[in-house]
Amino acid sequence: MDVSTYLLFAFLSGLALVNLVQAQGQLGFISLDCGLPPNTNYIEPTTTLQFTSDAAYIKSGVSKSLSSNYNQFLYKQYHHVRSFPQGRRNCYDISVKKGTKYLMRASFFYGNYDGLSQLPKFNLYLGDSLWKMVNFTDENMDTTVDSIHVTLDNQVQICLVNTNTGTPFISSLEFRPLPNETYKVLTRSLLLSYRLDMGTTTNLTYRFPNDTYDRFWVPYNWGEWTSISSALTIDPNTYEPGSIVMETAAIRIDTKKPLEIWWETEDENTQYYVYMHFAEVEKLQPNQTRGFNITYNGSVWYGPLIPDYLSTTTIFSQGPLPTPKKKHLFSLIPIENSTHPPIINAMEIYSAIDLLELTSDQGDVGAITSIKSTYGIVRDWEGDPCVPRAYPWEGIACTKTNGTVPRIVSLNLSSSGLAGEISQSIENLQMLQILDLSNNDLTGNIPDFLSNLSNLEVLKLDNNKLTGSVPSELLKRHDNGSLSLSVQGNPNLDCTSDSCKSSSKKKTSVVIPIVASIGGLILIIVVSIIILWIVKSRKKRRNETVVPKVDPSGTNDQISDHLLETRRRQFTYSEVLRMTNNFERILGKGGFGMVYYGTIDDTQVAVKMLSQASGQGYQQFQAEVTLLLRVHHKNLTNLVGYLNEGDRLGLIYEFMAKGNLAEHLSETSSYVLSWQDRLRIAMDAAQGLEYLHDGCKPPIIHRDVKTTNILLTENFQAKLADFGLSKSFPVDGNKTNNYMSTIVAGTPGYLDPDYYLSNRLTEKSDVYSFGVALLEIISCRPVISRSEENVHISKWVNSMVAQGDINGIVDERLGGKYDANSVWKAVEVALSCVSGNSARRPTMNQVVAELKSCLAMELERTPESRGFDSTNSVNMMSIVMDYSEAAPMAR
Ligand SMILES: *[C@@H]1O[C@H](CO)[C@@H](O)[C@H](O)[C@H]1NC(C)=O
Ligand SMILES: *[C@@H]1O[C@H](CO)[C@@H](O)[C@H](O)[C@H]1NC(C)=O
Ligand SMILES: *[C@@H]1O[C@H](CO)[C@@H](O)[C@H](O)[C@H]1NC(C)=O
Repeated sequence: MDVSTYLLFAFLSGLALVNLVQAQGQLGFISLDCGLPPNTNYIEPTTTLQFTSDAAYIKSGVSKSLSSNYNQFLYKQYHHVRSFPQGRRNCYDISVKKGTKYLMRASFFYGNYDGLSQLPKFNLYLGDSLWKMVNFTDENMDTTVDSIHVTLDNQVQICLVNTNTGTPFISSLEFRPLPNETYKVLTRSLLLSYRLDMGTTTNLTYRFPNDTYDRFWVPYNWGEWTSISSALTIDPNTYEPGSIVMETAAIRIDTKKPLEIWWETEDENTQYYVYMHFAEVEKLQPNQTRGFNITYNGSVWYGPLIPDYLSTTTIFSQGPLPTPKKKHLFSLIPIENSTHPPIINAMEIYSAIDLLELTSDQGDVGAITSIKSTYGIVRDWEGDPCVPRAYPWEGIACTKTNGTVPRIVSLNLSSSGLAGEISQSIENLQMLQILDLSNNDLTGNIPDFLSNLSNLEVLKLDNNKLTGSVPSELLKRHDNGSLSLSVQGNPNLDCTSDSCKSSSKKKTSVVIPIVASIGGLILIIVVSIIILWIVKSRKKRRNETVVPKVDPSGTNDQISDHLLETRRRQFTYSEVLRMTNNFERILGKGGFGMVYYGTIDDTQVAVKMLSQASGQGYQQFQAEVTLLLRVHHKNLTNLVGYLNEGDRLGLIYEFMAKGNLAEHLSETSSYVLSWQDRLRIAMDAAQGLEYLHDGCKPPIIHRDVKTTNILLTENFQAKLADFGLSKSFPVDGNKTNNYMSTIVAGTPGYLDPDYYLSNRLTEKSDVYSFGVALLEIISCRPVISRSEENVHISKWVNSMVAQGDINGIVDERLGGKYDANSVWKAVEVALSCVSGNSARRPTMNQVVAELKSCLAMELERTPESRGFDSTNSVNMMSIVMDYSEAAPMAR
């Protein structure tokens, strides 16, 4: 069964290849026009490349346009720029294919877009590495950084860093997959120095479609050179340097002398890699030969070389040119019996660069992301918090040891306007040494979990509105000198710094009496009385206000510290009556009970009233709510609060205006979600699950992923609902629980067969259910067919795939408006999720990455692409390239 599935996948990929040819070889190209309005795209007329907006990959920056004077002589992707007046760093997160060799290119054309006539200077980072110091010599010159790099991950982070020398901006970002067999070198990545089209008779720079991989070939001629050419097509080798580039070759006018190319470098340790491309363009007679040796700094590098007629030969070495060297001289010297002078058609020179992709500890990333969303922090907090390590997020410091995963060690959010309670997510920053939350409006208690941060050395909470008392464990560490703790300026905190001091004296009080005078004794008695009074009043306060009712029988033994801090989110039944206007409007009926519409102040909420459960259920309900209140993610419905009064249990969630996904997929829905909408929704839901699995400690297993549990906001952002809670209810049990246990076990059709058999619940069970939901999103078919055979959706899709009827799988209401590769990939992902063997299923992390690339493919498809005639008007243009610095010399 599984083997045949894989064969079918191979078959699918074969189809994809056919389509690739039809799409003019652009498959896998990522072409971003930076600053283009969101969700727009176009076909660039001179290259026929489809450019899309960069907005999906970056959240910051402003869009600017160049003066229309430029329009006629510039590539269209240079007409807009994205400019970054705010923040020290601004980062793109580009979805790519892991383990792929890419040509990566970033381009910058200033064109005085800001009217300041000031050429900015700034730094460009790829991952952790400085990729280029972007610097301009001319307003009307573009700067391009061009690299060959094998991706380590499904994401590439590219950051523009402000060096206080002008506002960073960017014109375009391009990724072109290259065959693995090309540019095999001993270094991680290559940085382009020169890519030269020799002997060309035009001054045109050639790129796609003349070059399959869209490399830029810059015209290069020299006074002592002349050119020979062929009108016939040159056969490519794997490097495929485009026939038009290869059809012309340079020879030296003085045919007796060697043809020479050299360059000098400031940094004599720069490691260069050279690729020379040759093809004979003249038809030689049998008694004629063109043969030559290639020498490097006087010794033979390769030879003799006799170029093949109309066929490309590429000469390169896998290792770098020897260092240290200031001057690099290549001479092409004819061999003895050669009747014709040496030629060269094209040449590439790269230097080695270490482009280190690096990502921070994912637990830390999850925690800091949640802190960011809890407090609505707007700073330069985009991309990876610690990477590039030279420029972490403002207010954050990280470990920097080479070869280790960066961890967050310091969080400084002083004077950041934080309101609400101290976020529970801080607990998950396990390596934290310094935490500064001073000068904010934080309320609530100083949570106990801060004492779980065993590395914490500095804790500043001054000038907030914190209440309650300082956890004793923190005081202890303060007293023994391992923690610098400051809590001044919190008027309602029991332990102001003075009382902290007095309570710390309590410990030394055992020692003091031994040497104490009578006066001292009196002081001690007074102090003790004060302490007793404080302790007592603290106890009293607890009794008065903080104790939530844990179960109806009303013992207070089960007070947990977590519940103390969630107290604020607990609502009374009368409050719930008020917010729902006596349960006036029913939103729906869930497995656990009815869901009602409500409002708290002006915020819309959904109130889920739980049907009665056993006494055991109540306690677990408490524990569960405590957990859920800690979970924050943009793709999870936010728990606003809860009701726990007698046998009345309720959960109060944010209101999701557009209801659930199942309604929108149903036949009766008036609005048909586009393929792009569906991919975004699937990606949102996948990211929510990914967070539950990877971002939460311990991981939370949803257990009931299905389209009715994927809810939509006003803007069709999807959020998962009903997560985690199902764990609260006993799986096995007596009769009354049977109803519950079916819910716990999941919904028929979505239930992981592996779990059903093994009874072992893992994240992969959620992956299975997600796969089923994804198949529904693609096909809009019922999970279990309504016919008598009760065919499961995964069976049906597999049978359609077996028949090769891919289009038959897709919801016909889409009317063919989708990128076929994108759909096929999504089908592949979904089928791998529903694999019967849970070990074969991908992780949600992998699912998210795959869906991102589905979305990228779909975004490349444009309405304009249909009916566009690419054969006409492919006029080439010349672009001044940034090769002026120290271009190679030749003779
Ligand atoms: C090469 O052969 C051609 C006849 O095929 C002859 O005309 C020519 O002179 C020869 N050239 C040389 C250099 O021997
Ligand atoms: C010239 O020499 C090369 C090897 O040095 C040989 O392969 C080639 O056939 C020779 N050409 C002629 C015309 O003798
Ligand atoms: C946190 O940042 C503020 C403002 O930049 C600074 O004054 C303070 O010293 C920092 N706190 C710590 C603990 O370094």
